[in-house]
Amino acid sequence: MTNYVYIATSLDGFIATSNGGLDWLEEIPNPEQSDYGYAEFIKSIDAIVMGRNTFDKVITFGQWVYSKPVFVLSNSLTKLPEQLLGKAEIIRGDLKEIIAQLHQKGYQNLYIDGGRVIQSFLQEDLIDEMIITLIPILLGKGFPLFGELEQQLRFRHKATEIYNNNLVKNHYIREQ
Ligand SMILES: NC(=O)c1ccc[n+]([C@@H]2O[C@H](COP(=O)([O-])OP(=O)(O)OC[C@H]3O[C@@H](n4cnc5c(N)ncnc54)[C@H](OP(=O)(O)O)[C@@H]3O)[C@@H](O)[C@H]2O)c1
Repeated sequence: MTNYVYIATSLDGFIATSNGGLDWLEEIPNPEQSDYGYAEFIKSIDAIVMGRNTFDKVITFGQWVYSKPVFVLSNSLTKLPEQLLGKAEIIRGDLKEIIAQLHQKGYQNLYIDGGRVIQSFLQEDLIDEMIITLIPILLGKGFPLFGELEQQLRFRHKATEIYNNNLVKNHYIREQ
């Protein structure tokens, strides 16, 4: 049972520009059309828990990109577009209870996505592994990956992969 963060961040720790823009990610030269290990990672998880802001962005992509069930954390959404029936659903409530419910449904390994949602999970020390790809850009401002914590959380470095001598993907594991 593992809760993963798998995300790309600017050198200064932002995951989107102030208006939610991701152009800086799409513009990265990728001559070999690498997915940077994303498909392999997705195989290892059972479901995705994402924040409502990330969901709002994802539905602008036009096509549904997820092969695993998506649970959208939102206190404001009341329903999702009909075409997502069976693919995504809204969840809310206490994070530990949500995780327990997902485990009961058979979803053991969870991909936690969205800045504020990741921060909420970290505040309760509910993240086990973080795979963070550093993009060599300073955005200056935007949506931060991390926020304040009441306690320090230590992680152990597991692996680093470098793509196109440009992107640095670091894998960390929570250490007690
Ligand atoms: N660089 C990357 O790889 C990457 C990855 C993911 C996302 N992004 C981008 O980053 C931005 C994410 O924005 P974000 O950090 O503001 O949002 P987020 O985590 O995606 O969504 C936050 C929203 O989730 C809902 N929520 C419900 N329960 C929550 C809880 N316990 N903790 C936190 N949120 C909860 C709230 O919406 P309600 O008001 O509906 O309750 C809250 O406003 C988007 O622009 C997205 O496209 C980038």
